[in-house]
Amino acid sequence: MTFRRTLAAAALAALVATSSAHAQAQPPIKVGLMLPYTGTFAALGDMIEKGFRLYVEEQGGKLAGREIQYFKVDDESDPAKATDNVNKLIKRDNVDVLVGTVHSGVALAMAKVAKETGTPLIVPNAGADAITGPGCAKNIFRSSFSNWQPGYSTGVVAAQKGYKRAMTITWNYAAGNETVKGFTEAFEKGGGKVIKDLTLPFPNVEFQALLTEIAAQKPDVVFAFFAGGGAVKFVKDYDAAGLKKTIPLVGSGFLTDGTLEAQGASAQGLITTLHYGDEINTPRNTAFRNKFAVTYKVNPDVYAMQGYDAAQMLAAGLNAVKGDVKQKDAMLAAMRKATIDSPRGKFTLSPQHNPTQDFYIREVKGNYNVVTGVAVKALADPGRGCRM
Ligand code: BEZ
Repeated sequence: MTFRRTLAAAALAALVATSSAHAQAQPPIKVGLMLPYTGTFAALGDMIEKGFRLYVEEQGGKLAGREIQYFKVDDESDPAKATDNVNKLIKRDNVDVLVGTVHSGVALAMAKVAKETGTPLIVPNAGADAITGPGCAKNIFRSSFSNWQPGYSTGVVAAQKGYKRAMTITWNYAAGNETVKGFTEAFEKGGGKVIKDLTLPFPNVEFQALLTEIAAQKPDVVFAFFAGGGAVKFVKDYDAAGLKKTIPLVGSGFLTDGTLEAQGASAQGLITTLHYGDEINTPRNTAFRNKFAVTYKVNPDVYAMQGYDAAQMLAAGLNAVKGDVKQKDAMLAAMRKATIDSPRGKFTLSPQHNPTQDFYIREVKGNYNVVTGVAVKALADPGRGCRM
């Protein structure tokens, strides 16, 4: 009897030792970061990576008990190189999960490859409507927004302010055109009229001729979509042309997010809408902002927050399968159902995997986008054309 018990105990001990050795031997989860590290969106890519890593570090450097190994590609915000770049991560590095990117055109190419190969993809910025529209897929998620959303919410606010004649100005690519479309839809529904759309090629920043045209047309309001280095230059040029004093400028919040130190006085008082603001006064946001500032010696912005939430979405999936990425269907199902406790406020995903979220009204005061109200509560992208 005693001998049998000893044998059983020894067998159990051996089993425990084997399974813990097995747990230790689990290789890291390979995360492929495809982001812009050069060019007009370089700062945005850097902030997304910082936010993603911060969440992982808060979990002890592991998600669902597994180490995270990063593989990085600089996509240069160049759609022509996107397919080759994403294939480097999938075929050369054999990543388990893709995270990227900022530029809508690059993200569209990335999403096509992700869909064809079934590689899980979390988009931490690019708003291309098609990604959660006609190009939607079971394995593609967004922690950010669709281009339609901030355009639409800014259109609501501009109409509420009583502006009647608007002009729009943006880069001629998916993000610019789709944001303007969202703005126009809400602005015209609210009684306004967009009298002219102005565009220039991405990432061109020679705004002078277009500013001259705005001055000649004298609309009640100008709506702009620019981001990163382009947004810095546009806001300064708009002011230098004397337009800030005469024609109100509004925009989706990318116009003034992560850019305020460089824009200085030219940005003061600008009104934008976005799914984030510097001063959302909740314990969750305060904790995020403090931790980010202490870790990186810089304040977070919307891009950092989206990167942080991309990691939270991945964690929700991995936790459900105890880190076993091979159980892909169960992992994706958990991501789809997750409620993300974001610094922006809790959000869930639409059936097409885009955040349903509040859009805030923000006003630039000093170096902050101060939240002054909510433009639209729980705004869901219509997900037009998605069949999953
Ligand atoms: C985009 O290309 O989707 C994008 C880039 C920067 C800020 C927001 C959207």
